[in-house]
Amino acid sequence: MADPAVPPSGSIPAPVPSSVVPIVALDVADGSAAEALVRRLGSHCDFYKVGLELFAAEGPGIVRWLRAQGKAVFVDLKLHDIPNTVHGAARSVARHGASLLTVHASGGAEMVAAAVAGAHEGAAEGAAEGGCTILGVTILTSLDGAAVGTAGGRPPVTVETEVVRLARVVREAGGGGVVCSGHEAAAVRAANGPALGLLIPGIRLAGGAVHDQRRVMTPSGAASAGARWIVLGRAVTAAADPPVALAAVHAELSGVTG
Ligand code: C5P
Repeated sequence: MADPAVPPSGSIPAPVPSSVVPIVALDVADGSAAEALVRRLGSHCDFYKVGLELFAAEGPGIVRWLRAQGKAVFVDLKLHDIPNTVHGAARSVARHGASLLTVHASGGAEMVAAAVAGAHEGAAEGAAEGGCTILGVTILTSLDGAAVGTAGGRPPVTVETEVVRLARVVREAGGGGVVCSGHEAAAVRAANGPALGLLIPGIRLAGGAVHDQRRVMTPSGAASAGARWIVLGRAVTAAADPPVALAAVHAELSGVTG
């Protein structure tokens, strides 16, 4: 459904550089739908997220295709396995040219460190410019403190405390950043400083539809909270005119950080 916050199509200004990098989520079923969206957004988007659905459908070919279009790629596989397996998977993903890859921080420091090492090796083997940064997923935005406690066989937890604790695991294991909601970003930043890049999903333009997300934030709110990257899903992809919606995001970001 069209997002009511997005104005009708008109002249679309060119993106103004800002320190926050917008990433559009290719949450689509197959390569042809992904290709249509990438072509529609054209030069308005240089960075795409490939998640489990698209990666399962198309494999690493979709990453190579995006790289061939000159786009940077965030591969959001949220890996969680024994260190040796995660090392190999991270190495393979980085070899295909991904710039960002997610692993679950709850997999532990040894697993995160294995991912970092694998990504480093794979990026070198694939001659991937800029390398592949490992991001730790802290607490999924679909979980609350009670659900996290139940899953771990313990009383309800405070989400912010858990997110900060897991972010520290990622930093100490050599990870380059964490995925967290905008609402925990300031606490993570305060505890870890700028060394850990923050990637914030759940972004909505002011007044836009929230969909199934619980804790959303505007692009400028995420920028103020310290985001290095923001992930744009339906705020752009479900808009009546995705390029116009993305231009509104760029305009908001340039007002904050430009
Ligand atoms: O459409 P929407 O903006 O809600 O999509 C958000 C994107 O960010 C989806 O691709 C989703 O998988 C991802 N994501 C998230 N929350 C997290 C991690 C990733 O919404 N904690």
